[in-house]
Amino acid sequence: MTNPPTTEAGVAITVDGREVLARPGELVIDACERTGTYIPRFCHHPRMQPVGMCRMCLVEVDTGRGPALQPSCVLECTPGMVVDTESEVTRKAQDGVLEFLLVNHPLDCPVCDKGGECPLQDQTMAFGPGESRFVEEKRHFEKPIPINDNVHLDRERCILCDRCTRFADQVAGDPLIHFLGRGSRTQINTYPDRPFSSYFSGNTVQICPVGALTAAPYRFKARPWDLTEVESTSTLDSVGARIAVQASHDRVLRFLGVDADAVNWGWLSDKERFVFEAYGSEDRLGEPRLRQDNGTGSVRASWSEAMERCVTALGAAEPDRVAVLGGARLTNEAQYAWARLAKGVIGTDHVDAQLADGLPAQVVLGLPRATIDDACTPGGIIVLLGPDPKEELGTLYLRLRHAVVHDGCTLIELTPQTTGLSGQAAHSIRVPPGAAPAAVATMCGKRGVKRADLPSKELAAAGRALAAGGPVTVLVGRSSLAEGSGPTVDAALALHDHLPDARFLSLLRRGNIHGALDMGLSPGLLPGRATLEAGRDRALAHWPTLPSSTGHDALGILEAAAEGRIDVLVLLGADILGDVPDHDLARRALDGAGTVIAVDLFATPTTDRADILLPAAAPTELDGSFTNLEGRITVIRQKVTPPGTARPDWMIAVDLADRLGAGAGPSTPDELWAELAEVSLVHADIGPAVLEASAREGVLVVGRAELARPKPTSVSEPGRRKVRLVVTRSMYDRGVLVAHSPSLVGLAPGTRMAVAPDDLERLGLTDGEKVRAVGARGELAAEVIADAGTAPGTVHLLWNQDGPDPGDLIDASRVVTDLKLERR
Ligand code: SF4
Ligand code: FES
Repeated sequence: MTNPPTTEAGVAITVDGREVLARPGELVIDACERTGTYIPRFCHHPRMQPVGMCRMCLVEVDTGRGPALQPSCVLECTPGMVVDTESEVTRKAQDGVLEFLLVNHPLDCPVCDKGGECPLQDQTMAFGPGESRFVEEKRHFEKPIPINDNVHLDRERCILCDRCTRFADQVAGDPLIHFLGRGSRTQINTYPDRPFSSYFSGNTVQICPVGALTAAPYRFKARPWDLTEVESTSTLDSVGARIAVQASHDRVLRFLGVDADAVNWGWLSDKERFVFEAYGSEDRLGEPRLRQDNGTGSVRASWSEAMERCVTALGAAEPDRVAVLGGARLTNEAQYAWARLAKGVIGTDHVDAQLADGLPAQVVLGLPRATIDDACTPGGIIVLLGPDPKEELGTLYLRLRHAVVHDGCTLIELTPQTTGLSGQAAHSIRVPPGAAPAAVATMCGKRGVKRADLPSKELAAAGRALAAGGPVTVLVGRSSLAEGSGPTVDAALALHDHLPDARFLSLLRRGNIHGALDMGLSPGLLPGRATLEAGRDRALAHWPTLPSSTGHDALGILEAAAEGRIDVLVLLGADILGDVPDHDLARRALDGAGTVIAVDLFATPTTDRADILLPAAAPTELDGSFTNLEGRITVIRQKVTPPGTARPDWMIAVDLADRLGAGAGPSTPDELWAELAEVSLVHADIGPAVLEASAREGVLVVGRAELARPKPTSVSEPGRRKVRLVVTRSMYDRGVLVAHSPSLVGLAPGTRMAVAPDDLERLGLTDGEKVRAVGARGELAAEVIADAGTAPGTVHLLWNQDGPDPGDLIDASRVVTDLKLERR
C-alpha cells in the first residue's frame, strides 16, 4: 500500500471512515478532536508532554500493517493512517480500562467535589461498563491530607494519571509531588516534611480528572450544577489571564483558568485563583464615608451627600491644584471616564496611574512592543531587565519558563537578585542598582565602560549569545523599588539603539496599568498613546478644558501635595502609604493635601486618611474591558452584584462630570467607548462588537507613542563600607487583596535582609546576626543572612512584609539608596 505524502496542507488520515487532514506532527487524539471526533482520555493534556499513562485513549489504528490498539495520545499522525474510534475492539479496550480504574476508585461521587464535572464519572457513563464485577475490598488511604495550605489530596480517588506531577515538574518547575510506592499501593504524595510549596498549585486541582486534588477554598461549597459562570479577565496583574468566574446565589465561589492561546494557556497563579475571596469579603466597603470636621472620624453618608462634598471641593480648587493618582484597578472604560473628568472637565494634567514605582509612560508606549508569543518564539532570545516574573507576573513566568525549557529560547538575565528563572538562564548576571546601563554597554561590546561591580567576562559572553541571532525580546521593568527608573530606561534605550529589531514587553505589574496609560491616565498623554500636543485636535471636541502643558507625575504630585500645593487629591484604588516606595513622602503628601477623595474596595491606612471615601465595585461586579501588557484588550464580565451601594468607577466619574456641569456626555460604558473611538486613533476600529467576537484571545491595540528619551542618569559605585539597597516584591505580601483573602494571607514570607557571602565577610558580619541598616533617610534592624543570589555590594529586602519596612529607607529623590550595615 502506498501512503499519501505529507503535504504542506497537512497529513491525510482516515478517522472512522472520514478523510481528515492532520497537522504535521499532530497527535492522533488532537487531530481527531480538532476534526470532530472525541477520544476519551485522562492523562492527556494539550499543554503538557504526553506520557501514555492511563490507556483510556486506546483506539484501533492501521498504519499499513493491520489494525492494532494504540494509545492515541502518544501517536503522531502519519500519512494514510486509518483510525477507528468506534470499533468493537476499541470499545472493549476502553470499557476494560474504565473497569480497572474503578477497581480502586471509591464510589463517593455524592460527597466528592468533582461529582458532576468529573471526567471519570462522565466517561464511565459514555464508554464504561454498566456495572462493576469487583466485589472485593478497595484500597484505603487516610482521607484527605493537605499537601499545602490550599490543596487537599484524597489518594483513594487518584487514578495515577500523572497530570499533577507533570504540571509541577514540567510547567511550574516545582517538582514537589511524586508517585510513591508500587503496584496497587502506588500513590501521589509530597516528600516527607516538604509541602507542595508552589505559587501554581491550584492548577493541579483544576486539571486533576477526578476529585483526588481539591482546593480548600472551594471544598463542599457548591455542586457544579449549582454554579453559573461567565468568562472574564483576571485583573490581578497586567498579564490579564482569562478566567471563568463561577458563582452560586450571587456569590463567587471559584475562579478557573481558561485556555487563551495567546496569554495564559489555562494556567493561573494561586494568587489569581484564590483572590475571589477578597472580592467577596465581608470587609468590602459598601457605603460612602465622610470625615467629620470635628475630628471624630468618618461617618456613613449617602451618595448624593458624598458627591456634593466632592463637587464642592473640586469646584473650589484651581485646576492646577487638583491631582489624580492611581487607576490601574479600573476597566478601560472607567479609566477613560476618569481621564476625561480630570483633563477634559476639571482641566488638570497632574494625573498618574503609576505610583512612583513604574517606568515613564512615553518610554513604555514608545518602545516597539512584543506580544507574549513574540517573547516565547522558539529559538528566540529573551533579555530580562526587570523584576522577577515568577514573583510579580505568575502566568507570564509559566509561559517564559516553557519557552526556555521546552522551546529552546535563550534567557539572559541582568538583575540585582536571582529570579525564578535563573536556573534556566543561559546567562544569569547580577547587576547592582545604577549599573544596568554599563552592563548593557559592556554586553553590547561598547569600549571604555568599566565598573568593578560588574562581571565583564560574563557580560561579554552574554553579548556573544545576543549576537548569535534569533529574535530578541527585552522584558523591561523596575527590578528594585529602591532604584529610580533612570538606569533601567537608559539600559532599555541602549538595547533599542543597539538592536533596532528587538521588541519590548514592559513588566509593569499592577492590574490594568497598560489600559490606564492607553486611556491617558498619565501626565502629558491623551487616550490612544498620543501626547497632549499630538492628540489635542481629536480630543478637544469632547475634552474642552484640556491643559496646555504636561503635569506632574506621581512623584511630582506627592511632592506638590507635601508642600501644600494640591487642594484636592483623588486616589483611585491607590494605597499610597503601602505602594509608594518612599514612605516618608507618601505620609507627607497625605498630611499636606487639602481634601483627599479615595475610591476603593477596602479601607486601608491610606483611605483612613481620606476626607471622602467612595466604595467601588470589584472586577466580578461590573462589565468592561482590560488591556494587558501586550496591549491586548479582553472583556471583563459581571457575575455578581456589588456590596451595599458600591458603584462601578466609571459611574462615579460620569456622575461627577455631570455635577460639575460638563454638559451632556457619555453615560454608559458603551457610550464611553464610542467617545473613546473618536478621541483615540488606535481604538477607532475596536468596539464592544469587535471585542465580543474575539472574546477569548482579545484584540491587540497597535500603535506607538513618540518615544521619549529622558536625560541619561549617572550613578557612581557605592563606597567600600556601604551596600546598595535592593527591594523586590514577592508574590505574597501585605497588599490589600492578599490581606482579605483567607487562603493567601498566611503565605507572605516575611522580612529578611540578604547580602552576598563575600560581603558578609567584608563587612565583618555573621550569618543570622541582627544588624542595623543605616541610610540618609532612616534606619531599620533585621536579621542578616548570607545569600549567594544577591548581587555583590548590595543588600536585599522584600517589600511590604511583616517586620521592618524598607520604604522607611527609600528617598525617591535619589536614584539609589546606599546603606551602612552595623552590628547591633
Ligand atoms: Fe492524576 Fe489527580 Fe492522581 Fe494527580 S492526583 S495523578 S492529577 S488523578
Ligand atoms: Fe492516552 Fe492517557 S490519554 S494514555
